[in-house]
Amino acid sequence: MTTATATKTGAGISGINSDAQKFISKSKKLLINGKWVDASSGKTFGVYDPSTGKEIVQVAEGDKADIDLAVKAARKAFDSGPWPSMTPSERGKLIWRLGDLLEKHLEEFAALESIDNGKPLAIARVADVPLAVDLFRYMAGWATKIEGTTIPITVPYAPGARFHAYTRREPVGVVGQIIPWNFPLLMAAWKLGPALATGCTIVLKPAEQTPLSALRLGELIMEAGFPEGVVNIVPGYGETAGAALAAHDDVDKAAFTGSTEVGRKIVHAAAGNLKKVTLELGGKSPNVVFADADLSAAIPGAASAIFFNHGQCCCAGSRLYIEKKVFDQVVEGVSAEAKKIKVGPGHEEGTQMGPLVSEEQLNRVVSYLEAGFEAGARAMTGGCRIGEKGYFVEPTVLIDTTHDMKVVKEEIFGPVVTAMPFDDLDDLAAQANDTVYGLGAGVWTRDISKAHLMAEKIRAGTIWVNCYNIFDAAMPFGGFKQSGWGREMGKQALDLYTETKAVCVAL
Ligand code: NAI
Ligand code: MG
Repeated sequence: MTTATATKTGAGISGINSDAQKFISKSKKLLINGKWVDASSGKTFGVYDPSTGKEIVQVAEGDKADIDLAVKAARKAFDSGPWPSMTPSERGKLIWRLGDLLEKHLEEFAALESIDNGKPLAIARVADVPLAVDLFRYMAGWATKIEGTTIPITVPYAPGARFHAYTRREPVGVVGQIIPWNFPLLMAAWKLGPALATGCTIVLKPAEQTPLSALRLGELIMEAGFPEGVVNIVPGYGETAGAALAAHDDVDKAAFTGSTEVGRKIVHAAAGNLKKVTLELGGKSPNVVFADADLSAAIPGAASAIFFNHGQCCCAGSRLYIEKKVFDQVVEGVSAEAKKIKVGPGHEEGTQMGPLVSEEQLNRVVSYLEAGFEAGARAMTGGCRIGEKGYFVEPTVLIDTTHDMKVVKEEIFGPVVTAMPFDDLDDLAAQANDTVYGLGAGVWTRDISKAHLMAEKIRAGTIWVNCYNIFDAAMPFGGFKQSGWGREMGKQALDLYTETKAVCVAL
């Protein structure tokens, strides 16, 4: 096993994949109009290894001026140049090639994700990177299948006249995409894939905590042969670069993933030019275990529903509802699973759970734990920060929680689950839906009718039955209620990157 240690600014991290090491030691610029450039202000900002809190490298800090340049480049690439005149098949080939290049560099990307975000290498290898590869391939196939329809029309006020009417699906235009830090590469792929397949051009702003994999992806995008200006990547802070992108008058659509609070700001910012908006926001997802479930699957399933990616998932199964007669057994089982998890730096082989992404998130999660204990919650296991160095938190199972507590109502975005008993199905559905969110939900039962009933009753964008956190490029993902607008992935995502044009021809 290698032990990774952070070294001085710009010198990178030793003991990780050598290509990732090499990439980290290069200067980190903005990708605008096919060129790597410094920020107009000349400013840079630090990115940190969350397992130590030490700086990994400095990255060019884009702000409003750079966003302006990037939007200009994207506009030019959308209006003229090779991109709009490319055939769908040529576009599809480029996206497929990007998937291939990403796959070729899987180890490098897994290392970048683990050092930047803190997630375990093993997870980045089997989840983040392969899912991004698959997403690009799935979307590459769609490039040639974005079809309109022919419409038989009547036109009652024009008797005898004949028309040929049809629809065209056209790219929405220049898209501003703002993504978070919990799955840095995968969120970039979810956003870029459908935009590229439909023929849009893009300005992507990665999260300030985790810009590295998006910048490396930018290199692969250019290597794949995308024309200049089709994808522009501008790391920077949300309040500056992000806000400028969301408000920009020459951006036709803003696509955002992150907090519900910032989602609201995006909506306000978009009002100026009424750009289209899609949002993938927070959650407080219920995960329901019935007494008739296969508990040998439901117990590890419930643990992984919350502890996967350290609970930093918008759809984390953070409210665990357990049928009364198996409550003790399931809570003890989930707690035992939590205790088994090997917590450590993500970039160390063998780690099963890494640190939270930042000091800000650490403080947020710890303050939720404190609020929970103050309100009367008890920890079956966990409940504390681990050590003094890095942003580690114990996998935590809380009991004695009620629906008026902050730990049950608000998104914690950490490895903290509240376990609550239930004994009546109607009551359960009301509790499951007692949230402003509606992103995901889990149901564990052997009773097929109970499973389908719950799938109907729970108001959420994804219902997992006897599984959790199953994602696929073909399966739409997104939220009811305050969990968002629109869907990521699947055919539905493509619809949201196109405008429908009706064409009516008098014959
Ligand atoms: P955030 O919503 O502030 O950040 C997400 C992205 O939005 C980043 O790229 C950020 O730079 C950008 N951003 C921030 N303020 C902006 C603004 N005014 N205009 C435009 N873009 C802006 O999330 P943050 O602060 O990192 O995390 C806070 C909480 O948000 C977490 O504890 C969690 O509850 C939630 N969250 C949800 C995510 C999800 O996948 N739905 C992902 C990340 C955070
Ligand atoms: Mg924020």
